[in-house]
Amino acid sequence: METLAKEKSEFRNYEQGDITAAVKEHYRKMRSRQTYDYVQRMKAKYLTFDKPMSLWDAMGKLNALIDVSDPDLNLPNVQHLLQSAEGMRKEGRPDWMQLVGLIHDLGKVMYLWGSDEDGTSQAEQWGLVGDIFVVGCRLPDSCVYPSFNELNPDMQNEAYNTETGIYEEGCGLDNLQLAWGHDEYLYQVLKNHKENSIPEEGMVMVRYHSFYPWHTGGSYEKLLSAKDEQYKEWIKDFNQYDLYTKSPKLYDLEEMKEYYLPIAEKYLGKGPIYW
Ligand SMILES: [Fe+2]
Ligand SMILES: [Fe+2]
Repeated sequence: METLAKEKSEFRNYEQGDITAAVKEHYRKMRSRQTYDYVQRMKAKYLTFDKPMSLWDAMGKLNALIDVSDPDLNLPNVQHLLQSAEGMRKEGRPDWMQLVGLIHDLGKVMYLWGSDEDGTSQAEQWGLVGDIFVVGCRLPDSCVYPSFNELNPDMQNEAYNTETGIYEEGCGLDNLQLAWGHDEYLYQVLKNHKENSIPEEGMVMVRYHSFYPWHTGGSYEKLLSAKDEQYKEWIKDFNQYDLYTKSPKLYDLEEMKEYYLPIAEKYLGKGPIYW
């Protein structure tokens, strides 16, 4: 990677600095409110694919959103997307991967039609951003602020509070219900988009990049399938750009369009995306 303003060990530090209180409060709400039933309700409510918006308009909307769960970046989210994509471009990664870097957090546009009650608004982001976990089984200690796990009402429900919960052993990642947020939202939006030809690796990067208790924490072993080992390699490769490209450097979205729009059109076509 390029020379960094910060050492790698300085990223994802949840116990230092003045933004910690807001980050911690975000995770307290997320852990106590993201239940199995909540996730089902959000899927029914937000996966309607009836709101057309171009990719570039969606990028522009993230100029107005700062991710409250991120202890490493206090810039509009679109800057994080440009930094991730540029990190990949500098290292000559494939064009589809640069595109995934550019759009991986675009699901956060959900805030445009979100609400405080759902945690999907600018003010309340606990249903939008942050590390995700499996609903329908026990919360692992690898979650950030694990002491909040017991606040989740599902942990009082014996159908949901065992190691495998409602799932079959070895069922694999694709069969799990994850906490609701921008990863699953964008994944489903792209999956529904007929002209999408982003390779499987890229779609996995979109869907599971926030699943830290699995890809970094090593939890949920009993639920994984052989296929998930491959998924993890892809995610680890992606994650270095998602995390370590964060810096105060600012890009101009309009200037970047010249390079990235043709790549976006190659894999997603020219028409609008239905959100
Ligand atoms: Fe993300
Ligand atoms: Fe990201």
